[in-house]
Amino acid sequence: MTVNTTVTVRVPAKVNLQLAVGPGREDGFHDLVNVFHAVSLFDEVTAQDASARRSRPLTELTADGGTGTHLARVPLDSSNLAARAAVLLAETTGKSTPVDLKLIKQIPVAGGMAGGSADAAAALVACDRLWDSGMSQEDLAGLAARLGSDVAFGLVGGTAVGTGRGEILTPMDSPGRFQWVFALSPHGLSTPAVFGEYDRLFPDAPEPRESPALRRALAEADTAALGRALDNDLQPAALSLLPELERTLDTGRAAGAVGALVSGSGPTCAFLVGGGDEDPGTVEARRREVVASLEGSGLCESVVTAEGDVPGAVLV
Ligand code: C5P
Repeated sequence: MTVNTTVTVRVPAKVNLQLAVGPGREDGFHDLVNVFHAVSLFDEVTAQDASARRSRPLTELTADGGTGTHLARVPLDSSNLAARAAVLLAETTGKSTPVDLKLIKQIPVAGGMAGGSADAAAALVACDRLWDSGMSQEDLAGLAARLGSDVAFGLVGGTAVGTGRGEILTPMDSPGRFQWVFALSPHGLSTPAVFGEYDRLFPDAPEPRESPALRRALAEADTAALGRALDNDLQPAALSLLPELERTLDTGRAAGAVGALVSGSGPTCAFLVGGGDEDPGTVEARRREVVASLEGSGLCESVVTAEGDVPGAVLV
């Protein structure tokens, strides 16, 4: 049998098409209806056997890639969710050897696109393969849910609705391919801080409900309807903490985006520029307009394009 000494896993970012947030729970979380949509902005996690290392921790971490200031926000110690994923898998299976984890990051850090969660999902898959730990998909999904509310989605990708605190996933019918533009902010936003601001702004939040209009738009690949149905309850909280995001959203809308919203807890802003049932030439023209306006606005650290949905973590 061949023994792998290096395993690389590619994992996508997510944008939330709907994020409905209920009142705060006693455990500090919120019940959500969270429609995840995986987009073609990828991190790569490489797990390399480091058994030659003596008296050093189970995992050592390095990070590279991407542009701008965001890499400085990646923790390189045992608090990194990818390192925690490796430790949890080792503790659960009792099988492990020291491992070096190398993160190549395209997904914005602390950007509301689940980059840290994606890396954790990828680290689970990579270490499972490296250590030949023999976990089933269900076992890995269970570990993922313990690591964070968004980690399990990184394993499956596609388009799925998450309930509970977001970790109970049900795939959604979404045959269309949609084109997106993302405006990356020079700032990061802390997810707990944005949820805290939400509680302050909406002390009487109702129970979260799934949007039938969104489900229909996805099933019919109806781009205009999807643009109208995009909805993020955390957006007012993110805008309250970083008011300049309103101008970013307005810039993309004015340039012709079909829909615009803050991604998750932000501060990345997501613009739907077409796809589904539309003519590709029209979509391309719109995409260029939106990219040019955002780049010219001076409001963003960078502007990237991606399409969705795409599958979750895969070995490369
Ligand atoms: O689950 P995860 O570690 O990604 O959550 C990060 C933080 O986001 C939590 O500590 C909590 O403050 C907030 N959160 C929440 N309700 C959820 C998911 C996350 O309040 N359903």
